[in-house]
Amino acid sequence: MRVMNKVDQSIVLIGMMGAGKSAVGRCLQWRTGFEQFDTDEIVRSRFGMPISEIFSTHSEDKFREAETEALRNLSPDQGAIIVTGGGIVLREENIDLLKRFGVVVWLEADEKTLFKRASRTGDRPLLQRKNPRRAFTTMLRARLPLYAKIADIRIDTSELTDEEVAVAILSKFKKYRRKSRPASPIPATAR
Ligand code: S3P
Repeated sequence: MRVMNKVDQSIVLIGMMGAGKSAVGRCLQWRTGFEQFDTDEIVRSRFGMPISEIFSTHSEDKFREAETEALRNLSPDQGAIIVTGGGIVLREENIDLLKRFGVVVWLEADEKTLFKRASRTGDRPLLQRKNPRRAFTTMLRARLPLYAKIADIRIDTSELTDEEVAVAILSKFKKYRRKSRPASPIPATAR
């Protein structure tokens, strides 16, 4: 594993289901040596059950509350990779919390690709509908402006492998940090 110089800014991955946030998060973790936090994982272990079961036995609201609480309790003392669930942008409070962590990276893809990837595992509670395709479109439309508003960096993942996405993120992350804080040290070995 290659270790980047420790920096205080984290990389926060946002984007719709199927954007590849978890897989790309793992690649980033491997490349940077940063610790990784995944809000879905945190909520899942807090309830001790899969997310689909949290939705069905508790409710989406309870899931959203736990998601916000996970963010509130997260305070990495050095740069980290923070992977989020697709609906994290729905709560105003979450947006402030995410911005506080560091650079927010939006993983995008065309709708067809996102839906295909998101429906592959069959375990997304919000797609357990009579017409999951239509539900997906409605959700995506409502969320696009929210992702766009919060993102510092955006990457189109439609044609890229997870590794390629990770490399693209690290390259943009370095440039972004250079632009936003010219006097600060730049991570030396991002790949
Ligand atoms: C959700 C996305 C899921 C998970 C939950 C709700 C959403 O995470 O947080 O099922 O609202 O889009 P992924 O984006 O990792 O699928």
